[in-house]
Amino acid sequence: MSTNTTYAVTVAPDEAEIQCRSGDNLLDVLHRADVDIASYCGGAGTCGGCRVIVEGGEARTARGATVQEGDECLACRAEIVGDLQVRIPAESRRADGEVATDEPRHVLGAVRPDREIEVDPLCQVTPVQMTPPSLADNTSDFDRTCRALQEATGREVFTASHGALRRMAAQLRDSDWEPIVLWLDLQTHGEIIDLLSPGAAGGAYGLAIDIGTTTVVADLVDLRSGASLGRAGEYNAQQRCGEDVISRINFASQRDDGIETLREAVTGTINQLVAQLTDGAAVSAREIRVAVCAGNTTMIHTLYGLDPNNIRRQPYIPTIGNVPPLRASELGLDVDPDARIFSFPAVGSFVGGDVVAGALDSRLTEREDMTLFVDIGTNGEIVLAAAGSLLACSASAGPAFEGGGISCGTRAVPGAVERFRVSPGGDEVSYRTIGGEAPVGVCGTGLIDLMHALLRAGVINRSGRFNTELETERLRATEEGYRYLLVPAEETRDGRDLTIETPDIRTLLRSKAAIYAGIRMLLTNLALDESAVGQVLIAGGFGTHINLEAAVAIGLFPDIERDRFQFVGNSALRGAREALLSRLCMREARELAGGMTYLELSADEQAAAFMDEFVAAEFLPHTEMERFPSVADDGAPGP
Ligand code: FES
Repeated sequence: MSTNTTYAVTVAPDEAEIQCRSGDNLLDVLHRADVDIASYCGGAGTCGGCRVIVEGGEARTARGATVQEGDECLACRAEIVGDLQVRIPAESRRADGEVATDEPRHVLGAVRPDREIEVDPLCQVTPVQMTPPSLADNTSDFDRTCRALQEATGREVFTASHGALRRMAAQLRDSDWEPIVLWLDLQTHGEIIDLLSPGAAGGAYGLAIDIGTTTVVADLVDLRSGASLGRAGEYNAQQRCGEDVISRINFASQRDDGIETLREAVTGTINQLVAQLTDGAAVSAREIRVAVCAGNTTMIHTLYGLDPNNIRRQPYIPTIGNVPPLRASELGLDVDPDARIFSFPAVGSFVGGDVVAGALDSRLTEREDMTLFVDIGTNGEIVLAAAGSLLACSASAGPAFEGGGISCGTRAVPGAVERFRVSPGGDEVSYRTIGGEAPVGVCGTGLIDLMHALLRAGVINRSGRFNTELETERLRATEEGYRYLLVPAEETRDGRDLTIETPDIRTLLRSKAAIYAGIRMLLTNLALDESAVGQVLIAGGFGTHINLEAAVAIGLFPDIERDRFQFVGNSALRGAREALLSRLCMREARELAGGMTYLELSADEQAAAFMDEFVAAEFLPHTEMERFPSVADDGAPGP
């Protein structure tokens, strides 16, 4: 059959009809039409998230089998061979809620050594006065502007963008030779990108952007006053290419158009945010002159269209750690085409610019107390600040704390269970969901709370094994181990039991063990132990709602006084805003990244020690109970 033959895919219950070609991949077809369907593994056929029910027509699977009415198949493994009718079941939806962009009060109230930022942005706004040209002074418009800028700034070398040059003659004369010059500080020189008339309002805005693997959040900032004009967040459209950085890298390497697809997805998300923010603030996107991005190394590679493949291959080498600022027009961002997009430098393949931005915001090098900075996503990125020096590592926690890879897991969306109480013996379970809605799954903070609740109730022991002696109907044997009923079908939103199973507990144990082992590795490399830690800063959205007692009790965090923990929220975004508004802060960020020592946990000299720490931490809370004195006597059952 010719690949030019077109067919129609009808999607229920969306009532969508999508035209496609013979041979097209069904998941690609659904994504192109923006159908909400999960694809956690990015189409690798391993997560099972994209399951659809065929209601008519037929498709061909990757193994050459034909699926017809009544069959189920994975959309990512199905090829279009004719008209097709499919139904997307509820469990194949992403269930994304709105992206939370507000910092909770306890984060805003956190004691941070705040420092006044003097507004001195990466895009400078400099009023100049120049003598108009004459027969006695026939200097060109560009040289005359540079001369005025040199006098005003003391800086020697300026260039101008093509766009600025094209407008310059008219703008200088319109401004009566007293323009406001917008120029970018590109370290080696300044680049003039536009001229404004004297007294003109607006015209100079910037974006601080936190590019997360899951969400992208941006602040629109007035470059003259430093005032924030709005904040907006969206899910990163790259999610359809995989849930975590590894599946995104796989996506990039396994498809001819993989890198470009990822690039278009993340720039599309940023452009969506630009549209929301500029609409809300009634400014033109053309007036956005500069952006600063904080993101992990893979996100920054995909933003710039760089091949991320070697990030995941030993010896884990990124194409570049410190990307030079590129023009918005080169990246496809809908702002001033001459605007420059800066990024925070990365420390390594798995300690990225987002961590550097967080370290900048948290003033890690200025803290007197020994400080641990922990950002938990699919990787646990951990920095230990001691006497001005910084040691960092990345521990692969997997997506469990974001609800991924856990049978009952979900994002922190309305309806996600975030708190549990389990009666001794496990007969009764009470819970609280985000927004008080009917349960849809258990989010990362809920999973931590659940582990603690199950341990205290004696449903699992300190090895994470189910207590099979229990006489509760909630616990059932399965082929893969045991399954414990959390919420019965009649209480859940989709009418299916919410349960936790033996493999889930194993995954959670490994995730929390990886984080704790990473913390221990940093400490032991400096010949320290937990008692030396003066402060623990928990960054990112995950930490914000965490039950700290539960997190310590399961051995995710060290057992130190609870008032030494602080939740610092989206420190990456705040760091990006500081660098946007302050050339000094951007310089500090570069120095900070350059001075941070990266401990590669899989390197020969570290790997064995890390594995020892990891294995010791695969226990609740730890095989060495003396490390957790406050939880040693909580009555939970031993191994
Ligand atoms: Fe299809 Fe994962 S199995 S996207």
